[in-house]
Amino acid sequence: MDIEKIRKETPGLAHGIHLMACGSALAPLPVVDAVMAYLDLEAKVGGYEAHAHEATMLDETYSSVARLIGAKPREIAILENATAAWCQAFYALPLQAGDRILTCQAEYAANYVAFLQRQKRDGIEIDIVPSDETGALDITALESMITEKTALIAITWVPTNGGLVNPAAAVGAIAKKHGVPYLLDACQAVGQMPVDVEALNCDFLSATGRKFLRGPRGIGFLYIKEKWLETLEPVMLDHFGAPWVSRDQYALRADARRFENWENSYALRAGLKVACDYALAIGLEAIEARVTELSDYARARISALKGGQVHDIGAKQCAIVSFTIEGLDPRPTVALLRQQGIAIGASNPESTRLDAEERKLPVLLRMAPHYYNNKAEIDTALAALEALSQD
Ligand SMILES: Cc1ncc(COP(=O)(O)O)c(C=O)c1O
Repeated sequence: MDIEKIRKETPGLAHGIHLMACGSALAPLPVVDAVMAYLDLEAKVGGYEAHAHEATMLDETYSSVARLIGAKPREIAILENATAAWCQAFYALPLQAGDRILTCQAEYAANYVAFLQRQKRDGIEIDIVPSDETGALDITALESMITEKTALIAITWVPTNGGLVNPAAAVGAIAKKHGVPYLLDACQAVGQMPVDVEALNCDFLSATGRKFLRGPRGIGFLYIKEKWLETLEPVMLDHFGAPWVSRDQYALRADARRFENWENSYALRAGLKVACDYALAIGLEAIEARVTELSDYARARISALKGGQVHDIGAKQCAIVSFTIEGLDPRPTVALLRQQGIAIGASNPESTRLDAEERKLPVLLRMAPHYYNNKAEIDTALAALEALSQD
């Protein structure tokens, strides 16, 4: 990995220290250029005309996303964010009263709210798989909880609130063995580690552009395993997802784009394509190695601070570092650091309520170094935190 070149290609680094890849990472220049160039073309020739001109490039976005996760282009739908993608899959599933969903302690708030809505509306039941002694989803417990009523396994691979990496592929092996559909929230995983839908054995996978993938905001994608395209009908359709083929009939598109609708931000799609290609060119194994090194370094440094406590759990940990420092209230601390040009974040218990209640977590500080960061930036951020804690 040519860090010097990568840092040169990351304009945001000139404006401060950014350790928030889990919120919205710094985009590389080629991504920014692709979005701007597309908007510029739209301004010059008009939106429809720009689309016609760039149709081939825009179509290649599907191939780039597919390559990133080991899927086929026809299995990809591009949506406005990870939540919209996840919801398209979840709400399309014909769950009925008495059907049960298996989920994990670290499930993301948006997903859990959707579970609750279908519990209220459709009478489904929610089963929460306990965590093992390391804090990750307990695979043995998961398998023992599957019954003939289990209609879906839906888990978060990497939660929003810390470094945990749930055993997503082991979950997929069990889902496959028992023939239970598997919906994986990969929002915080894509872009920081290799993702292969075949190895994961997932039926659906959702992700976003702006986090570790370094794409633009306002765009995400959904993977739908090919076999579901024979049966699964979106809850909401338009004449793009399902052309109006005769007065009384529509025909679903044969590919995953049946989950999209007609109008889109093509500039963001151009940026998403470049973000996927950029990550692939660097290599996801190399990216994972680098972010692991940086986040392990941050964890060790935080643990050595007076009053510093790392809250990450799980045998395998990734680039999201969650922590507290005695005497520092996370929300105002984030604001004070931002005034010094240092971006870190805070995570509210409500974003992962089950886990937060189980572990009695307060609001946490959250820092997520990406491969473009370095140890000196982590040192500067921690020195600023240390100074605040001594004020
Ligand atoms: C684990 C997880 N899933 C889903 C999402 C939602 O992503 P988006 O904001 O793109 O809908 C987030 C966002 O923080 C997340 O952390």
